[in-house]
Amino acid sequence: MNGNIIIKNASELVTCSGFAAKKGPEMSDLHVIRDGAVVMENGLITMVGKTSDLPVSAQRSGFDVIDARGKAVLPGFIDSHTHLIFGGYREEEFSWRLNGIDYMKIMARGGGIVSTVSATREASLETLIESGRKRLDSMLSFGVTTVESKSGYGLDRDTEIRQLEAMAELDRTHPVDLVRTFLGAHAVPREYEGQTDRFLDFIIETVLPEVSEKRLAEFCDIFCEKGVFSVDQSRKLLVKARELGLKLTLHADEIVQIGGAELAAELLAVSADHLLQASDQGIADLAKKGVVATLLPITAFSLREPYARGRYMIDNHCAVALATDLNPGSCFSESIPLLFALATLYMDLTVEEAITALTVNGAAAVARADSIGSLDRGKKGDAIILEFPSYRFIPYHIGVNTVEKVIKWGNLVYDKMNGGSLVC
Ligand code: NIG
Ligand code: FE
Repeated sequence: MNGNIIIKNASELVTCSGFAAKKGPEMSDLHVIRDGAVVMENGLITMVGKTSDLPVSAQRSGFDVIDARGKAVLPGFIDSHTHLIFGGYREEEFSWRLNGIDYMKIMARGGGIVSTVSATREASLETLIESGRKRLDSMLSFGVTTVESKSGYGLDRDTEIRQLEAMAELDRTHPVDLVRTFLGAHAVPREYEGQTDRFLDFIIETVLPEVSEKRLAEFCDIFCEKGVFSVDQSRKLLVKARELGLKLTLHADEIVQIGGAELAAELLAVSADHLLQASDQGIADLAKKGVVATLLPITAFSLREPYARGRYMIDNHCAVALATDLNPGSCFSESIPLLFALATLYMDLTVEEAITALTVNGAAAVARADSIGSLDRGKKGDAIILEFPSYRFIPYHIGVNTVEKVIKWGNLVYDKMNGGSLVC
């Protein structure tokens, strides 16, 4: 595992080349190289081009060589919005929703997020790490090489910090990289019922400063939603988080249009997420301010809510990213194949736009477009090799995983040909 690898003869090297979020029409160009090759050295990409252009020096020993004849090669996918770390499950809620009790009603009755809070408070650090590790193994098999992961199932100091520590440990010990987000304002816990402002002050005054001081998270998020945290409450937390050096992201306009997209633009958040109900003005603001619109269609599917207006957003010059929103309630799925199916068939994204949304725009949504999300010289050697000759097979093979191999930091870490087990 020295991070030195050559992948050659790829029928399509889908580079997704770029170092910043791609807006509107830019999302359509995947910068494909036919009969392509990529060289990774000490974990970083040092050459991208045609196989015939491979330098002789790259053929020397010390490099693993993968012949990708008849296969497409892409950058690793970035899942830029997940709630990876949680205790317990909420399988009964799925049946309640089938019986017509909607997500917000379940939450208002004290179910939903706060029931996961009880299970997470009871879970040890080890339990959180081990369940997170299994979920990451599954995500890696879908070609995901970087995952954003939120706290938000503690809603008290100790559990919020334990969730973030579990993520830090997984980042150190699992091949997938984690980006940590503090979501202490995800819901109001039972002990603060009816005292939303008091709870928010506790988060702002007690937990957030410690999270920032100990560098436990890079981003701060909030569930800005009718009946949870208002726009003004969200602004109060996020302004403080920004002062303390955290980058901003929001759960915005998911169920009710309350101006979450406009707030994300006002605060120059890195991304605004969900956006099922975002207004035309909110979408225009996101495009103007360069805030990534992160869409989570599996959640809309699972909650039987209308999809976010992805086509309209791209046509109006937004940079759109796609992510799974893996969590134990509204969307218990890390399925990249399902995500592609919904984005293309139901949100009217083209195949090319969906791939940009999962690669370089996913990287931009976690403020890493300079180092991951495309096959460009100088970026991390994170790539996937498909079982098929073209990227077009990803949504076409509906709901089925087309990823054969995953390379992380220049090392082969997952190989379906190896019985689907992790190589590392
Ligand atoms: O992104 N909407 C708020 N938060 C999560 C759901 C969390 C849960 O239901 O446990 C989401 O969908
Ligand atoms: Fe979420």
